[in-house]
Amino acid sequence: MNKMDKILEVKNFSVSYDDKKILKNINMYIDRNKITAIIGPSGCGKSTFLKSLNMMITEEKGAKIFGDIFFEGKNIKDFEVENLRKNIGLVFQTPTPFPFSIYKNMTYAPIYYGIKDKNQLDNLVKEKLKLAGLYDEIKDEINKSALSLSGGQQQRLCIARELTVEPEVLLLDEPCSALDIQNTIKIEEMLKNLSKNYTIIIVTHNLAQAKRIADKTAFFFDGELVEYEDTEKIFSNPSDEKTKKYINGIFG
Ligand SMILES: Nc1ncnc2c1ncn2[C@@H]1O[C@H](COP(=O)(O)OP(=O)(O)O)[C@@H](O)[C@H]1O
Ligand SMILES: [Mg+2]
Repeated sequence: MNKMDKILEVKNFSVSYDDKKILKNINMYIDRNKITAIIGPSGCGKSTFLKSLNMMITEEKGAKIFGDIFFEGKNIKDFEVENLRKNIGLVFQTPTPFPFSIYKNMTYAPIYYGIKDKNQLDNLVKEKLKLAGLYDEIKDEINKSALSLSGGQQQRLCIARELTVEPEVLLLDEPCSALDIQNTIKIEEMLKNLSKNYTIIIVTHNLAQAKRIADKTAFFFDGELVEYEDTEKIFSNPSDEKTKKYINGIFG
């Protein structure tokens, strides 16, 4: 089967919290196997948007959604939530390893989904840790607590752990905001590499990061999608005054 180039379609999509409109009639497509950055001032709705893409938003009290999102052509409302979130994984700002060994963090979901064979599990752990650029650093410590890793390693572990369920899309909400520049660069290199096989959507307040890694960039402001363009274009020649002001650091 030919896979669609536009892996996600967001159509007339709005979210309100307790009747206050937070996202306002968003329309956009997301390209398969590319990196899309979401930028915009604090409170403009970036996290709400990300949480909407895998229906995490429905866990928030008081949230109401309007409009539709299609994943590979199918309305996300028609997916079983567990299956949707297996396909579209979300990684949070602060690393959230489980308080077990690295190995157990990595095998938790695969075992839940029925993989029992030890060899198969070992190979999966190795493959995904390699993809996350972590294997060489920790291969002798795989039975140590995940909490003994540095912050940057924990974040890469959380991304590797998401990969164990073979998602199509990875959503990352400011994954580097707690990391120093060296660790940030490692994550960026990993994401560039992952984008060959996965679709990545990253919220970042770090404009230089969006510039470095994103193919496309979407600028949100006050719940609206103001501008969505090739990253190169949005940073060199934005069409909208608000985008211009934001990328020149005038607000946000
Ligand atoms: N669970 C919630 N209940 C009520 N309001 C919320 C909730 N989550 C977020 N909001 C509000 O929605 C707006 C957008 O928040 P958010 O999506 O977190 O913005 P961003 O990630 O761009 O900083 C903010 O005004 C925030 O206060
Ligand atoms: Mg946020």
